[in-house]
Formats: sequence, structure tokens, C-alpha cells
Amino acid sequence: MKHNFSHAVVLWVAFFALAGRSVSSGQPAGFNYDEAKVGTYSLPDPLTLVDGTKVTEVETWKSKRRPELVRLFETHMHGRSPARPAELKFVVTSTDKNALGGKATRKEITVRFGAGPDAAEMHLLLYVPNTARGPVPAFVGVNFEGNHTVTSDPGITITEQWVWNSKEKRSERMRPAESTRDKRVGSWAVETLLARGYALATIPRADIEPDYAEGWRHGVRGYFLRQAGKSEFAPDDWGAVAAWAWGLSRALDYLETDKDIDARQVIAMGHSRMGKAALWAGASDERFAGVISNNSGESGAAISRRWFGETVERINTSFPHWFCANYKRYNKDVAALPVDAHLLVALIAPRPVYVASAAEDTWADPKGEFLAAKHAEPVYRLFGKAGLGVEEWPAVDQPVGKVVSYHVRRGKHDVLAYDWEQYLNFADRNLLIVKTP
Ligand code: GCU
Repeated sequence: MKHNFSHAVVLWVAFFALAGRSVSSGQPAGFNYDEAKVGTYSLPDPLTLVDGTKVTEVETWKSKRRPELVRLFETHMHGRSPARPAELKFVVTSTDKNALGGKATRKEITVRFGAGPDAAEMHLLLYVPNTARGPVPAFVGVNFEGNHTVTSDPGITITEQWVWNSKEKRSERMRPAESTRDKRVGSWAVETLLARGYALATIPRADIEPDYAEGWRHGVRGYFLRQAGKSEFAPDDWGAVAAWAWGLSRALDYLETDKDIDARQVIAMGHSRMGKAALWAGASDERFAGVISNNSGESGAAISRRWFGETVERINTSFPHWFCANYKRYNKDVAALPVDAHLLVALIAPRPVYVASAAEDTWADPKGEFLAAKHAEPVYRLFGKAGLGVEEWPAVDQPVGKVVSYHVRRGKHDVLAYDWEQYLNFADRNLLIVKTP
């Protein structure tokens, strides 16, 4: 599939000649923020099998192309994750039917990934609206700094967790200070989504894996490595982003057992690196009813082949733990990568997907995020679903689409009330079950 977007076409060869750089490197060194210098690139066709066969039937997508693409992402980017542990255990540690001034029922659940005393575990926080007259749809996401940061509810337990000490350059097992409560309230809009009839489930990033190069030693990847009697990861073993995605699947395992939740209607939602995780969760685990990628950027929803903002090389250098070791092979040759972001979005089809950008978040390549949703459309069409309904990148604050949805809002890299408003509208139009009487 050759790209010829008038807005993206540039004198690529001339640029390389001027810059004096080798074309074989795929992308020049450094970071580009000039649309005129993006370069031309060709994307793998979502509907052509690796052996060249065209996919014209849903059945072939399901039985051949989809599994092939999942394997390609596993081998070259995210790595392979373990299956659901046989000894997965859920312990509801608290229930408050009168949380948030009576608006919600709050539950805390410890999810244990093994039977032994040293088994890894995560702490799931769940809010269910008290207006519910039956099982409700839910959003599930990984939070950055602990469950206690997502609302101002003083009843949330502050658990011991791994916290990075930047002065000492090591992580410490500690209980975050009371003063860190509600630090991330703005990003989760808990009261708004409860008022609209949705539940929220969230897990802390550090429970799955503290987010630094050696953090795996304290997370689920280290736990399963030790369980397997190994000390090193294989080149296609899971990275941290896949581990966070795996945590979302384990949260869904719990939600399937909770009678307050309609587990067929759970949307994985994530911001930035957790948007990358939400995309992989929805792509690899078809139980998720939909996915919301908020400003997920490079190696999330942004087309990696576009030389704009963050690059594959930069992400693999700054965050060497995020993807499998094989992904680093593409640092200097992104054109050789057998996958790209549009295929990740396509793996969510025919389920609803929302890709959102922020205009000032140029590091994440907002237009590249739009193009990934755009180039996933052929797979949605194969299922008889409509695409974005626009050909060109829309103006700021102009949400587009129905099943495949997109907006670029004004402002910076963040999740704002405006974003949640669109996500709730998106969930309302795509989830069928009546939430409240
Ligand atoms: C960095 C990183 C991005 C990532 C972001 C975030 O900016 O380069 O890839 O999405 O952090 O998670 O906030």
C-alpha cells in the first residue's frame, strides 16, 4: 500500500540528499516536527497475508490474518505473554456500599497470580454506580501512581508498592504518603462516568511492573521468569507494556466473576504508555468490548514509519524494558518492521476503538495516530462497519467516527474532561446493554 497523501508527500530523496544521510537507515537521526519532512513510506496491507493471499472474507481474517498478525506483534514488538495462571485467585478485601457520598459501591480486590506466599499480586479498585439495576458496563485501565490517586475518596487503601527514588536511583517498597491521594483525579473522571452509568476498574502500574529498566525484578515478569527457573528473557518474551496489558486481562478475569459487572461490555482505556498497553490488551484479548487509546503515541497508535516526534529507536533507548528484545532490531530500520500501528488498531475490529490525540502533543505524532485509525478501516469494512467518515485529519475539537472514532483536542498531552466526554458518548453509542432503568 503506497501512501500518497498530498499533505504527507515530500521530496524525500531530496531531503536525504540535503541532510547527507543514508536512505537505508529508514529514518534520519533526531526528531522531526515538520510535516514536510515526514518522508514517504509504505505500510503493510492489513488484508494481505504474509504469503501474498488477499483476505476477502471475515472467516479468513479470523482464522488466518488475525492470528498471523498477533504472532507478528508478539515476535517483533510486544513479546509473548503467559496464559491466565492456573492458580489465579481473587480476594475481595473491602466493600463500601456508600462510597463517594452514596453514589457508588467501592470494592478492593487482591488478585493473586500464584499459590505460594511469594506469589505476585495486584490490587484492583472497582467503583460501581449505585443507580445500577443490573450488571453495568465498565472501563478498565492501569493507573500511574496507585489506586488512591484516582479519586478523592479517603476510603481507598494506600497499599505498599514499589516507588522509584530518583535521588538514590533505586526503587523502594513503601506506602505512598497520604498527601498523594487524589493526585490524578482529573485523569479518571470517576464521578462523571459513574453518573453516566458506568463502572470503573483500575490497577496500579507498579503492581504489575515498576516502570524502569530493572523494574521487572519486582514485577510479574520477574515472578514468572523465576517460576520457569530462568534468569534471562528470550528475545520474544514479553516487555513491560505487554505485562501491563496482561494485567488488564487479569482484571477482566475478575470482572467476569463480579455480578455487578457486565463483563461482555468492558472497555480497556489508557493514557500514553498505558494507551499502548490498552491497545495491546484489546488486540490480543478479544474479550474486551472496545479500546480507548488516549495520546498513546509512538508504538501505540502512531504510525512508526512516519518520521515525526518520538521514534522506535528513541523509545527502545529511553524505555528499554517496554518491548521485547527483538523490537530493538528495528531501531535503525523501521521500514523492515513487519507491523505498524494501523495493524494494532485493526486487530480490535470489529469492536469499537477510539484513538485520541492532543494538538500540542507533537511528541506523540497526532496525525500519525489519526492515520493508524484511518488505515485500519479496511478491516472494519470487511466486517460491514463504517470507518471514520472523513478522509482528512479533522480540525481540533471535531470528534469523528462511530465504531472507529477519533479526535484531536486542543491542548497538551493529558486526559481531560473533554476526552472523557467523548469516550462516554462513544461507549453509549457502541455498547448495547441498558445501564440504568
Ligand atoms: C514518554 C514516552 C512516550 C510515552 C509517554 C507517557 O513521553 O516517550 O512514548 O507515551 O512518556 O507514557 O507519558
